[in-house]
Order: sequence, then structure tokens, then C-alpha cells
Amino acid sequence: MKLTPVKIGDLALQIPIIQGGMGIGVSLSRLAGNVAKEGGMGIISCAQIGFNDPIFERAPFKANMKAIKEQYQAAKDIAGTGIVGFNIMCATYKYEKYVQRCVEVGADVIISGAGLPIHLPELVANSKTKIAPIVSSEKAAKVLLRTWAKRYQRTADFLVIEGPEAGGHLGFKYDNIHEAIKKMDQEVIKIVAVAKEYGEKFNCQIPIFFAGGVYDRNDIDHYLGLGCAGVQMATRFVVTEECDAPISYKERYLHATKDAVKIIKSPVGMPGRAIENEFTQTITSKQIPIKKCRSCLSHDHCDRKTIPYCITEMLLQSVSDNPDNGLIFAGSNVFKINEMTTVSRLLAELSQ
Ligand SMILES: Cc1cc2nc3c(=O)[nH]c(=O)nc-3n(C[C@H](O)[C@H](O)[C@H](O)COP(=O)(O)O)c2cc1C
Repeated sequence: MKLTPVKIGDLALQIPIIQGGMGIGVSLSRLAGNVAKEGGMGIISCAQIGFNDPIFERAPFKANMKAIKEQYQAAKDIAGTGIVGFNIMCATYKYEKYVQRCVEVGADVIISGAGLPIHLPELVANSKTKIAPIVSSEKAAKVLLRTWAKRYQRTADFLVIEGPEAGGHLGFKYDNIHEAIKKMDQEVIKIVAVAKEYGEKFNCQIPIFFAGGVYDRNDIDHYLGLGCAGVQMATRFVVTEECDAPISYKERYLHATKDAVKIIKSPVGMPGRAIENEFTQTITSKQIPIKKCRSCLSHDHCDRKTIPYCITEMLLQSVSDNPDNGLIFAGSNVFKINEMTTVSRLLAELSQ
């Protein structure tokens, strides 16, 4: 059976699948534009989005501001009327400026996690940009929706729940991940109830998208059965022809075994899920000296004296010629993937 389209305010998402934002340089205009063109929601990662610009090393913020416009326009050129937005992590240095820039270029949506985007409503005020927080617990959903209701008399346009099987940073404690996996379905049901309550208060529907370890149509149907309107998926989109990462990065996905999927510590102060390689082995025993700061994280999230490595440096390495010395984030199901595909084939497989 075909998946049901979802309304997000005045936007109509034809296929209720969001392609999750992937930084640095994994989800840019090509991937996001093609996902949107095929009826899903394409999300460009804002994380050091201008890394390919010649001015980046000298002026990263300026390069990023420039790239937001270029990447959005390029994605929209591919997408036509499809929905394209940005993922901006709350922990980003100058988060507010990034949000404002995305609104200025006309972003359809902004999805924000890695912290609670408490001030997001005031940053998008009087714009058409839809906003969604990423939450991992009922508690976080309640705190955020209560604060937005009180302070801004508004609610979320949609909500992403990110579970403990996701790739990238995880909103769970390092030692609690296995326990959280067992309890996640219960948590989803509770968050669905919170969203329903706020939807009723604001006379709207707050569609929920589940993210983390969603691999096939059975998984999607499972989360629809729990009350979600759709899913957010990232790992499976990496092995599409259109994904913006280099082929060497995609090959690491194709060759990953189950044992090679590891939980690592990140300078952001959250655990992360990644593919084991020389880099992940190195950081188990020593700190990787920080050569240069490209101002990615706000100062309260990054203490250069104590962090085990520089997250920008290691994410940049992973999309360079030498991915084995970099941080390759991936979801728990990456080991199931063994062939390349295209966005259109993948979305057809998941949505028909
Ligand atoms: C390579 C990679 C990079 C990611 N980068 C980000 C990011 O910059 N910001 C963010 O909020 N989530 C990030 N994520 C999380 C995804 O957007 C998504 O929610 C999650 O991976 C979903 O789980 P799945 O990969 O099992 O489908 C990343 C995930 C991957 C695999």
C-alpha cells in the first residue's frame, strides 16, 4: 500500500519520508534536491556547509553564509516544487545567524537538534519557514512544547523523534544506549500523546517522524502503527548515486560489518554512532591534537583543552581522500547495506 502524504501547514509532503541532515558535506543540494524532487523532504546539513569554498579555511563563517544560499538554490533547481530545508544543530557557533540566513534564503523548513531549540520560534518569526525540533524523550518534547506555547504562543510544525539507533550524535547517555533501545517504542507512544495534546491546544496537527535505524518498509509501518506520520532516514540515503559524499565514503558504508558499528565519544558532549576505522581506534587511547579552530561549536560546547579531537577536522577528513582517518557517522543498520542505489529507486522501494 502506498504511504499517505502528510500536510505540514500549507506544505504537502507527498512521501512521508524526511532525508535526515548529514554533515559535513554528506547531505547538500544534490541529495536534498533529488529527494525533494521525488516527493520526500530533502534536508541540507548546515554543518560547515561552505567547506568546499576557497575562502573556508580563512573565513569559515563567511563561506558558510554564502554556501547556504548557493546550496539552497541548487537544491530548489533540482526539486521543483518539492520541499527542501536545513538541519541546524543547536550546538553550532552563531546558531542564530545560521537560522536567520536559512530563513532569508527562503528555506521551506528548519529542523534543529543536538540540544533544545528553545529560541527557534523568534528566529523564524514572520516567515513561511516551518520549524521542527528533534527530541529523544517525552521529557524533552514536553519542555520544548511547553516553552514555545508559553513564550511564543505557538507550537511545532512537525516533530522528529530521534531514537538510539540513529547515526551521528545521539541524545542518550553513553552507558544507557542499549537500555534506551528496548524502551524506545514506549517513549514514542508517550511523545505522540504530547504532540496530540499540543495539536489540540493550537487547533492543528503536529505530524511526527521517527528517526534512527529505520531500514525498510516494515520498519516504516511499525512507526506508523505507533502513531507517527512518517520517518526520517539518513543512513540508507548515503549509498545513493546522488548523495553528496565522495565514493570512498560510500564504500565504507558498503563494506561495514555489524561488529564495526561503534558508539564513540564526541567533543559535542554526546555519544555518536560511527563506523570503526583508524580514527575510532586512535581516540580510544589518545587525544588527537587540535591544529586549527574553524569555529563550529559554541564555546560552551567545546573546550579545546579537553576535547578528544576536533569534530570539524575529523568530519572533513572523512569526506576527503582519506576517510579511514576521519569520523564516518552511520546508523545501526549500515551493515545491511551492500549495494548502491538511486534516490528514486530507494523511495520507490520504501513508499509503494
Ligand atoms: C553521516 C551522518 C551525518 C549526520 N549528521 C547530522 C547532522 O549534521 N545533524 C543532525 O541533526 N543529525 C545528523 N545525523 C542524524 C541523521 O539526520 C538522522 O536523524 C539519523 O541518522 C537517522 O538514523 P538512520 O541513519 O539510522 O536512518 C547524521 C547521520 C549520519 C548517518
